[in-house]
Amino acid sequence: MPPKALITGITGQDGSYLTEWLLGRGYEVHGVVRRTSSLERSRLSHLYADGSVYNQTLHLHYADLDDPTTLRRVLLRVAPDELYHLAGQSHVGLSFDIPESTCEMTAMGTLRLLEMVRDLPKPLRLFHAGSSEMFGRPAVAPQNEETPFQPCSPYGAAKVFATQMVRIYREAHGLYAVNGILYNHESPRRGENFVTRKICRAAAAIRDGRQKELSLGDTSARRDWGDARDYVRGMWLSLQQDTPRDYLFASGVLHSVQDVVEVAFASVGLDWRQHVRQDPRFMRPAEPTNLVGDASRARAILGWKPEIGFEQLITEMTSAERAQSGAAA
Ligand code: GDD
Repeated sequence: MPPKALITGITGQDGSYLTEWLLGRGYEVHGVVRRTSSLERSRLSHLYADGSVYNQTLHLHYADLDDPTTLRRVLLRVAPDELYHLAGQSHVGLSFDIPESTCEMTAMGTLRLLEMVRDLPKPLRLFHAGSSEMFGRPAVAPQNEETPFQPCSPYGAAKVFATQMVRIYREAHGLYAVNGILYNHESPRRGENFVTRKICRAAAAIRDGRQKELSLGDTSARRDWGDARDYVRGMWLSLQQDTPRDYLFASGVLHSVQDVVEVAFASVGLDWRQHVRQDPRFMRPAEPTNLVGDASRARAILGWKPEIGFEQLITEMTSAERAQSGAAA
């Protein structure tokens, strides 16, 4: 019998790469999808088109994090060995505008899932996607798994609640449950309202004459950016250990939004000064500082290290945008 994995958030960037990674390892993969009027499934379309995969080794199920009955039913039917919980409202800026629904889905949604897992007849291994945003404005840099959380956004606070609940269920109820503390991770499949994709997309469109300028918020903001494909490998590795514990995944290197601009525009032969402007509409009420991670535990126990560097990632993302629009890459 092949191992079975269930993924919440399968249609997202990480869900789609994780699906490919697991299928490549012989897993039967099941995904939870929300029943909405417009289904975002483009990141999986190549798998749907493959008759040897879709409904053979990859299966989708309708369920919703805010509709526990549907989710419980899927969990009981699939009876997965591994559950990857990636779903949630993941835009930090947006969480200032819609804090209640962000917390409902990210915080309470995770607690509901833990309650269901606790009652399952067959135990499983659970991975929960935590975030560097939980550290907010940390007193130390780099951060590790022991650094106290000091979130400065509703999204960060919701993730702290969810992460702490995972720890409590592991310790109090003996669940095999793991938090990944994930720093920013990007790819050509990144959502369009995250800053790296927004910049790479604009650089490609300006280069090809489809756009004139790019408006950004705080370009001095700095992040520890890695590649999503490296991070999903870490998720999987963290569930293959005898003892469940939390792991931090990060590149350990800080870059500014301005660095992303410079690499993306230079990769298509443009001078960013002629096209980029700041717009207060994209500024956030509060920004974290010094979010840079120390992934020593993941390196020592899982043998994990990032393989794709910052410049390679941004250059690839920009050329993928050009290829997608039919222009020369
Ligand atoms: N989105 C966006 N749009 N961000 C901008 C812009 C803009 O026009 N201009 C500047 N920024 C700055 C943001 O203020 C932030 O400091 C930085 O760019 C990165 O923003 P995002 O790409 O939206 O990512 P994030 O760091 O807020 O959150 C991402 O990483 C977290 C891990 O730390 C998300 O993927 C979260 O879900 C994830 O947990």
